[in-house]
Amino acid sequence: MADELDPRAAGARRLKNKVCIVTGAGQGIGRAIARRLGQEGGKIVVADRVDEGATQTTDELTEHGVGAIKALVDLSTFSGAEEMMDLAMKAFGQIDVLVNNVGGTIWMKPFHLYTEEEVKLELERSLLPTLWGCRAVLPIMMEQQAGSIINIGSQSVRGLYRAPYASSKGGILALGKVLAMEYGRYGIRVNTLSPGGTDIPDRITPRQFLGAGVMAEGLEQEQAEEFRQEMVADIRSQQSLHRRGVPDEHAAAVAFLASDDASFVTGDVINCSGGQS
Ligand SMILES: NC(=O)c1ccc[n+]([C@@H]2O[C@H](COP(=O)([O-])OP(=O)(O)OC[C@H]3O[C@@H](n4cnc5c(N)ncnc54)[C@H](O)[C@@H]3O)[C@@H](O)[C@H]2O)c1
Repeated sequence: MADELDPRAAGARRLKNKVCIVTGAGQGIGRAIARRLGQEGGKIVVADRVDEGATQTTDELTEHGVGAIKALVDLSTFSGAEEMMDLAMKAFGQIDVLVNNVGGTIWMKPFHLYTEEEVKLELERSLLPTLWGCRAVLPIMMEQQAGSIINIGSQSVRGLYRAPYASSKGGILALGKVLAMEYGRYGIRVNTLSPGGTDIPDRITPRQFLGAGVMAEGLEQEQAEEFRQEMVADIRSQQSLHRRGVPDEHAAAVAFLASDDASFVTGDVINCSGGQS
């Protein structure tokens, strides 16, 4: 009886046997989310376009007894998102949770310094993978009459020097609201987790990697550093807890949204940002 009343025992396996896809799970926040959902009993599809990180995450999960597969896909295309769903369905026969985590600003600078190509690349990195992920999973979750989608937003929507990235994340906030309204009737919940600035100690693939061996060109080092420091100071001044986050803090909030503990939560946003929002 005492064990049943222990909140840690109740919460420990909230995702038992739920099939969870985590995109961008090869490193950083995505990897922490994959680990946390696996710890809580989920079967994990580790989706990324970089084999090294995806393999590390998948190996770590399977070594700890978590059912996991690797999906090497480019999620900037709809066909990549469809391939990811096919791999998940073939391996596990259902998809209960989709975490659309791929994203991250490539450049930091005032908007007038972005080229047309750079703006497109930012949207391709931070908006399209979430749009395609949602579009590809909805028919499957509709058929199941159940599912939880968690999209990863950002505090950049009120920050400096990342206008195209912030536009992507603003789009993700709108997407979460609209899809929650359209698909609640199918038992599908859609929520957003918006992290604040977070330290990623184990990054394998830099943000400047554009795929297929191509790296983005940056500003002169000195100028880029000036913009970055101004951006960081602005974030710090908005926060109540004046520090950067760690990936596990976001993973904990995602695990809640993914689980049935959040069964009456949809169309909502959790800001995990030290009170920045
Ligand atoms: N780190 C932060 O400070 C921070 C703050 C706010 C929001 N976020 C958001 O959290 C999420 C994760 O951030 P992070 O810092 O851990 O990211 P990251 O750049 O460290 O990792 C992103 C992962 O996504 C993969 N990826 C990139 N493009 C892909 C594509 N087209 N198809 C498949 N995989 C692709 C990369 O290979 C990489 O493994 C992003 O959405 C980011 O915008 C991060």
